Amino acid sequence: MRRTVVLDCDPGQDDAVAILLALASPGELEVRAIMAVAGNVPLVRTVDNALRLVELAGACVPVHAGCARPLLRELVTAEHVHGETGIDGADLPHPAREPEREHAALAIVRHLSDPTAERPTLVATGPLTNVALALTLAPDLARRLDAIVLMGGAVGLGNVTPAAEFNMYVDPHAARIVFESGARIVMFPLDVTHQVLVTEERLGRIRALGTRSARAVAGMLAFYRGRGRTGGAREGPLHDPCTVAWLVDPGLFCGRAARVEVECESPLGLGRTYVDLHGTTGRPPNAEVMLQADAERFFELLVERLARLP
Ligand code: BDR
Ligand code: CA
Repeated sequence: MRRTVVLDCDPGQDDAVAILLALASPGELEVRAIMAVAGNVPLVRTVDNALRLVELAGACVPVHAGCARPLLRELVTAEHVHGETGIDGADLPHPAREPEREHAALAIVRHLSDPTAERPTLVATGPLTNVALALTLAPDLARRLDAIVLMGGAVGLGNVTPAAEFNMYVDPHAARIVFESGARIVMFPLDVTHQVLVTEERLGRIRALGTRSARAVAGMLAFYRGRGRTGGAREGPLHDPCTVAWLVDPGLFCGRAARVEVECESPLGLGRTYVDLHGTTGRPPNAEVMLQADAERFFELLVERLARLP
């Protein structure tokens, strides 16, 4: 089945790989648009990075700028992990294409309300600000879309504070809106993304492809590999591409349904996700929580798909 997909992201080297994996998989995914949000780096950078990546892939996909800050909190960024540009390590040329004039949240509403399209899937790999805003503008989107496939949260400990994962921490209020929206949610927490590690050998396989895109990805991941060991990860975890890989081949991951709540009150716990895997609260599940990855097959897929790009 070919899915219609909208990507919402904050590139970010791992977001960048998610974008490229999606653009390299036209048989399974039709990428309608890319929405940028502030997160790893400020919005001007995430928009520019998304445009550069579309150009690198030789694709023709519109890029929309979204929210420059979280709903309630001040923006927290992660240059210490991703570098000043967000995609340090890849020297991508200035993009020829301009961002669209329409705000990302409005564009999400438009794309997801399109009665002529298949039920679209929203892939979210950054703070959920744009997504929450879209669901607030048009709550019926939750029923219209096929799923929100998101990277964020953790069953165990966090990577930006002991309690919280970065995307949830940056905009916990947006995350709470999304988890309470009633949409089908497929969640990739740190527990699963920390199994998908950029080892030297895997990096070598990407580099050996020798194409312009593969060289850019290898450069980015060489940079990120050294800095991305947050939250106790052994090597740089390739968080965000797990979402897209699942859409291409769901057999790469397994998990189970659980209730997920987002901490928005406790200062120490801000952005923590409480994942009720054992049904302790008796509340009905609101997410499919991925817990295990076949990392070797994931990298086989990634290398095979990257080889298709220029
Ligand atoms: C998430 O935070 C960002 O640094 C990454 O791009 C990923 O989306 C991991 O916690
Ligand atoms: Ca991200």
